[in-house]
Amino acid sequence: MEFRVTARRAQPDTADAPLLVLALTSGATLTPALTAVDAALGGALKRSLDRKDFRGSRDETLFLAGGAKGPQRVLLIGLGKPASIPTALKRAASVASRQARKAGVTSLAWFADDQSDVALEAVAVGLTMGFWEYTTTRSAPPEDERRAPLESAQMLVSDETAANAAIQRGTSIGDGINLARQLGMLPGNICTPDHLADTAREIAKRRGMTATILGRAEMKVEKMGSFLAVAQGTPQDPKLIILEHKKGPAGSKPVVLIGKGLCFDSGGISIKPAQGMEYMKFDMCGAAGVLGAMDAIGALNLPINVVGLVGSTTNMPSGEAMNPGDVVQSQLGKFIEIVNTDAEGRLVLADVLSYARRYDPAAVIDAATLTGACVVALGHAASGVFGNDQALIDEVLAAGKSSGDTGWQLPLFDDYKDLILTDAADIKNTGGRAAGAISAAMFLKEFAETFPWVHLDIAGTAYSETDLGFIPKGPTGVPVSLFVDFVRGRAH
Ligand code: BES
Ligand code: MN
Ligand code: ZN
Repeated sequence: MEFRVTARRAQPDTADAPLLVLALTSGATLTPALTAVDAALGGALKRSLDRKDFRGSRDETLFLAGGAKGPQRVLLIGLGKPASIPTALKRAASVASRQARKAGVTSLAWFADDQSDVALEAVAVGLTMGFWEYTTTRSAPPEDERRAPLESAQMLVSDETAANAAIQRGTSIGDGINLARQLGMLPGNICTPDHLADTAREIAKRRGMTATILGRAEMKVEKMGSFLAVAQGTPQDPKLIILEHKKGPAGSKPVVLIGKGLCFDSGGISIKPAQGMEYMKFDMCGAAGVLGAMDAIGALNLPINVVGLVGSTTNMPSGEAMNPGDVVQSQLGKFIEIVNTDAEGRLVLADVLSYARRYDPAAVIDAATLTGACVVALGHAASGVFGNDQALIDEVLAAGKSSGDTGWQLPLFDDYKDLILTDAADIKNTGGRAAGAISAAMFLKEFAETFPWVHLDIAGTAYSETDLGFIPKGPTGVPVSLFVDFVRGRAH
């Protein structure tokens, strides 16, 4: 169902709305607009603050009953003491629309004093995110337990036309994030490499892009021995998906976004333990991030050339599967010893990075749920950021900051190269337990020598094993916002 976010010229105290949402920082005092709401509520707002029933701390919520006129209910949502206002607003808006949806409210009105473009956009992203719910493989609850669906949100503003442009940008980004989350949540038997390819074709059609799909046969012609080694054990046709958004000056070098698209990673012959293996359906979240970002970039009609590349397959044990000790030759000609078949993402990305050379890219950013070691190093609060060009790394870190998809840089010192040296080939695909996220990135670096490149290890940030309040258990949509902010920064 379509969820609509629009601007509405109205005051929060008199707006006739089933639910009014007010976002407040911790220790907030009543502004004139809030004083008017307080009067409409017979003083309930001020009393809640005075009694500290509501303190405005991050993610805190409190429902208040409305007065005789104006909003029928009020939801207070806390922003805490935010370091970044837009990020806090996005998060709060997502909590609010999730709550409204759960409460069975069909429409909500959002009000905050900050009506700057960035604030309005961030709120629209958050409201759109909170609306998303995974239902594809779940039966609807019985009729008498069903809640009315949340259908729309109005953002109360003083200037509708100015606000609507920012709101539309926000919903485009929110839709891209939700597309990535939907793809992530779909099980591996539905979200196959074929399904990702079909999704790319739909995006291309919807956004006036071109989609090109290579299968096993075409990749053999391309001599992608590294990617194909991973795909060797699966009966499903692997896909290299290419989406091209050509809205920049003709001939200007494109930004290339690359995603790891392992629709299921069993580990292959180096099979993973059964415990938690179901989470490896999320091993395509990098790919989902690229597709979601491309969809948003198309919707925003950004004047820039962008290429999205997705390497998609599954990693399965079988009689045909690659074995530890095998040596394969990548498209670049480098020989790779496969020491552990569970280090498959870097094998796929090696050939996708090599494929990117033909675009003579201005910058290449890959996103991959690449290593458990990155989760050990950084947990779930930041993606690992690695690269071969400090200016580009800084630009990506800045996009991470502005978008809320936080990244943290880890080093790629030459000394780490020793970790992936072997007697049997030019390099091997694992470097042991120490610095596992770094040795994986060092491996990728071997295939990114001819362009500025950044690698995002999103193993800890692409999905959550617990409900985070602003996001339910499951895929987070990282790094769609980072990609979009980066590309926007380059599109001037
Ligand atoms: N997809 C996994 C990494 C992963 C682990 C993502 C946990 C999300 C959560 C990747 O293909 C993998 O298996 N990596 C191995 C590398 C090792 C064999 C060198 C790992 O991290 O254990
Ligand atoms: Mn693996
Ligand atoms: Zn994997």
